[in-house]
Amino acid sequence: MTELSSEKLINEIIEILADAEAPIISTGAGMSSESGVRTFRGEDGYWREHRAEDLASPEGLRKDPELVWEWYGERLKAYEDIQPHAGYHALVQLQDQLGKLPVVTQNVDGLLQKAGLIDVVELHGNLKTASCINRCGAPSVPINEELFEHLPPHCSCGSILRPDVVLFGEQLPEQALRRALNLAETCDLILVIGTSMLVYPASSLPLIVLRRGLPVIEINPEETPLTSLAGVISIHGAAGQILPLLVEGVSLR
Ligand code: OAD
Repeated sequence: MTELSSEKLINEIIEILADAEAPIISTGAGMSSESGVRTFRGEDGYWREHRAEDLASPEGLRKDPELVWEWYGERLKAYEDIQPHAGYHALVQLQDQLGKLPVVTQNVDGLLQKAGLIDVVELHGNLKTASCINRCGAPSVPINEELFEHLPPHCSCGSILRPDVVLFGEQLPEQALRRALNLAETCDLILVIGTSMLVYPASSLPLIVLRRGLPVIEINPEETPLTSLAGVISIHGAAGQILPLLVEGVSLR
């Protein structure tokens, strides 16, 4: 971690970011917290109140599908009215300046796309569709209000439906993972925003970039396992405040 005053550190990051030709972004739940989305492990985090195994694992879903679907329903409702904050708009501005800006995300809130980010790699899936927990082969169905009328929702084969998000212990969507790893192997900088860096394989992306000797920048108000690694430039602050400063600085260079 680089120890500099915030202003010096911001200027240093602006210089590095402005020199990058193919930067990529990696986001976690903290990227959306200023838009009103709850994180998993932060102060208001879901995992402080519930066990991840109960709500976000295939076993939890089979044990109490109604509870799990109620939780996803609450989250979907919370996502309905949220709006991207200034940090999101800054990323879109950077995308416009560079012509492209791939973003790998663990989030399923859809805020990156809502803000106007074009190239979003969803590592943990999304909450648009649901499919048969027993993979009977029936096509996936859209997650809409109708689905919540009788919980838990059922597939045409009679099994319960599951949201097409990645649950704990499951493989990530192959194509998204391959693309994310390829981006980490080919980018010339990674900006890691709002993730506790505790969930693999998303947490491995900055390590790949670090191993290649290229800049790894972290924005997070808290320390993470990434923060203290040699070569990582970590700025402690909120995405909605730091990102506009960085992108404004880059555009002035
Ligand atoms: P976490 O809840 O684990 O971590 C959120 C991080 O965001 C923390 O390190 C906070 O310090 C940071 N943070 C909070 N507010 C912030 C702000 N305004 N700006 C920047 N950072 C901020 O969320 P993730 O790392 O995304 O997976 O969690 C990873 C995965 O674990 C999730 O995708 C989910 C969860 O269980 C599944 O459900 C499979």
